[in-house]
Amino acid sequence: MAASIVLPFLVLLLASSSLSDNIDFTYNGFKSAATNLSLDGYAHITSNGVLQLTNDSYKVTGHAFFSSPIQMLLNTPSVTPAAISFSTIFVFDIITVGNGGGHGFAFAMAPTKTLNGSCCQYLGLLNTSSNGNSSNHVFAIEFDTVQGSDMFKDIDDNHVGVDINSLVSNISKPASYYTDNFKMVDFELESGQPIQAWIDYDGIAKILNVTISPFYVDKPSRPLISHAIDLSPIFKEYMYVGFSSSTGKLSSSHYIMGWSFRTNGMARSLDLSHLPLPPQPAKSSSISKATGINIGVISSLVTLLLVAFAFSVSWYLWRRAKLAETLEDWEIDYPHRFPYRDLYRATKGFKETELLGSGTFGLVYKGILPRTGEEVAVKKISNNSRQAVREFVAEVVCLARIRHRNLVPLQGWCKRKEDILLVSEFMPNGSLDTFLFESERCGLLSWDQRFKILKGVAMGLAYLHEEWEQVVVHRDIKSSNVLLDAEMNGRLSDFGLAGVYERAKNPSTTIIVGTLAYIAPELSRTGKSMPSSDVFAYGILLLEVACGRRAIESTSPTGKLLLMDWVRECKTRGRLLEVVDPKLGQSYLREEVELVLKLGLVCSQSIPEVRPTMRQVIRYLNGDDSLADDVALVF
Ligand SMILES: *[C@@H]1O[C@H](CO)[C@@H](O)[C@H](O)[C@H]1NC(C)=O
Ligand SMILES: *[C@@H]1O[C@H](CO)[C@@H](O)[C@H](O)[C@H]1NC(C)=O
Ligand SMILES: *[C@@H]1O[C@H](CO)[C@@H](O)[C@H](O)[C@H]1NC(C)=O
Ligand SMILES: *[C@@H]1O[C@H](CO)[C@@H](O)[C@H](O)[C@H]1NC(C)=O
Ligand SMILES: *[C@@H]1O[C@H](CO)[C@@H](O)[C@H](O)[C@H]1NC(C)=O
Ligand SMILES: *[C@@H]1O[C@H](CO)[C@@H](O)[C@H](O)[C@H]1NC(C)=O
Ligand SMILES: *[C@@H]1O[C@H](CO)[C@@H](O)[C@H](O)[C@H]1NC(C)=O
Repeated sequence: MAASIVLPFLVLLLASSSLSDNIDFTYNGFKSAATNLSLDGYAHITSNGVLQLTNDSYKVTGHAFFSSPIQMLLNTPSVTPAAISFSTIFVFDIITVGNGGGHGFAFAMAPTKTLNGSCCQYLGLLNTSSNGNSSNHVFAIEFDTVQGSDMFKDIDDNHVGVDINSLVSNISKPASYYTDNFKMVDFELESGQPIQAWIDYDGIAKILNVTISPFYVDKPSRPLISHAIDLSPIFKEYMYVGFSSSTGKLSSSHYIMGWSFRTNGMARSLDLSHLPLPPQPAKSSSISKATGINIGVISSLVTLLLVAFAFSVSWYLWRRAKLAETLEDWEIDYPHRFPYRDLYRATKGFKETELLGSGTFGLVYKGILPRTGEEVAVKKISNNSRQAVREFVAEVVCLARIRHRNLVPLQGWCKRKEDILLVSEFMPNGSLDTFLFESERCGLLSWDQRFKILKGVAMGLAYLHEEWEQVVVHRDIKSSNVLLDAEMNGRLSDFGLAGVYERAKNPSTTIIVGTLAYIAPELSRTGKSMPSSDVFAYGILLLEVACGRRAIESTSPTGKLLLMDWVRECKTRGRLLEVVDPKLGQSYLREEVELVLKLGLVCSQSIPEVRPTMRQVIRYLNGDDSLADDVALVF
């Protein structure tokens, strides 16, 4: 008798206790996750670490499950089985070429990771005969982009649904999120923009919450779906957890960029600023603008010229290679070539202890050139096709001619099989981001130093945009690409490489190489980099330097701070100086800090045409022009 009174209490205790094998994993990109995921069908991890479930073709299916089964049910002989609480966060992106993609994807939990589900509306989860059968033990949250035939009872072609053993959802809602004052904002799952999703299940209250929002919106406090459901009859004791997707006549590429999952606790938030981005489809964006000087047209002309240049160079090289047979021959034609032997010795055989860090394109080593004793940084870019190597070298040699005191000079190159090694001057003080964000390790940058660095970067960038013989768009302005020389001057590294890398790597698609938080909004739409998109990123850099905070920062396990929004808000409230890096104390020039913050906002406006040029930015920073106090900002 006593036992039966104690039992319900015990169940409660058990459900929240550590009697189950708790699981907690976080993948900010999947580069390191390959061994922990079981992939099938089309699913694979792209070279930059994005999990791709399907590509954009007819009837493709893909699954990706965490390799080990996860305990989801407390199933002790004496008590009622109880579903275990879990929480998961992931960032996805659905990219469609042309009109109308499909069919969506699902976050799925199933007793097996070999789901042989059908394509199309079945999202790779189930099939005609298994659909709706309670022996499936399949739980899924569908992100559905097609309104299926009547039997699926889809509410529209852009919804989120809770699926229990069936693709007919038990509850579904059009893709949207609630603002803080409970206004509902609709958005497109298929927007081609990263979207965050949170799924939280409370095994004791038996409440399932599903929340989604575009990546730049923090987790909405009110979930899109909050559904009372007991998952214990659906779960088996051990379940596989992951993603399933398929295409049909309508097709899209479905990508997951980051994923964290946890049982009995809140999933850890993802580091949004470090997630890899999926490749953007090459689109011939129609640029139609009414402004007199059309920077877009100029830049497309320059791109065309560059493409034509790259094309003729590669044709020339191809012919030469045919005639000469040995690859060595074309290599000899390019100046600034380093013998591999020298670089191998300089870096002690690319030893791990010599590693300076990993950049956008590959690992960077410190080296001492054996012949001269000169200190250099050696960047190793691996796994290129032969064609890519040649194009790369042709363009890198061209970039190596660029000299400016605020740019890190590229000294030369070397090729070794599929690897390209780039040699540049060694910058003894490392990169700006470590000073800003790890000051306990590197020491604090004074305001004067910061201001000088920002001016330097502006001059380097203006040179690339307006003064060199071609327009060079940097494409990856961020604090870790600002290096500091012995006099603590700010110098931009990796200029132009993003463009070279993009063209050489895969001529048919445009890859946005930049880093999430610094990517101008128009860039993820058009994929076309312009000087104005560098200005956007420079604006974000200005804010980071003045505030001593990252462009996107986790403030709590669930909350995120988008620096730009915060600064705007403080400015609107007339309390701009509240955002200033507290580590500076009162040691800064108020006018300069205000200038930097306002200029940061002016540069990071969403409409490219209203951003200033880098030349104009320098005039503001030097006090040659003054930034009107009430400058109208267009966001
Ligand atoms: C991933 O796999 C590696 C190697 O198999 C293992 O050491 C590691 O613990 C796994 N990580 C997780 C989160 O399971
Ligand atoms: C998509 O994947 C399928 C199967 O791997 C492949 O045959 C097809 O060529 C791919 N399509 C595109 C557009 O990449
Ligand atoms: C899927 O197919 C594989 C191999 O054909 C089989 O081993 C597995 O049991 C099947 N899974 C289901 C859920 O039927
Ligand atoms: C449907 O799926 C079930 C379970 O995976 C499998 O046993 C069955 O053969 C499939 N039926 C069809 C028609 O594909
Ligand atoms: C449900 O699936 C089980 C196992 O595959 C099968 O024995 C049963 O007949 C199915 N039920 C229905 C209603 O199709
Ligand atoms: C989900 O919906 C199906 C069909 O409407 C119903 O049979 C089932 O009981 C529902 N499941 C839960 C757990 O609510
Ligand atoms: C689910 O949402 C409701 C309503 O906002 C909230 O009260 C509850 O705490 C949430 N539960 C979980 C597990 O997130």
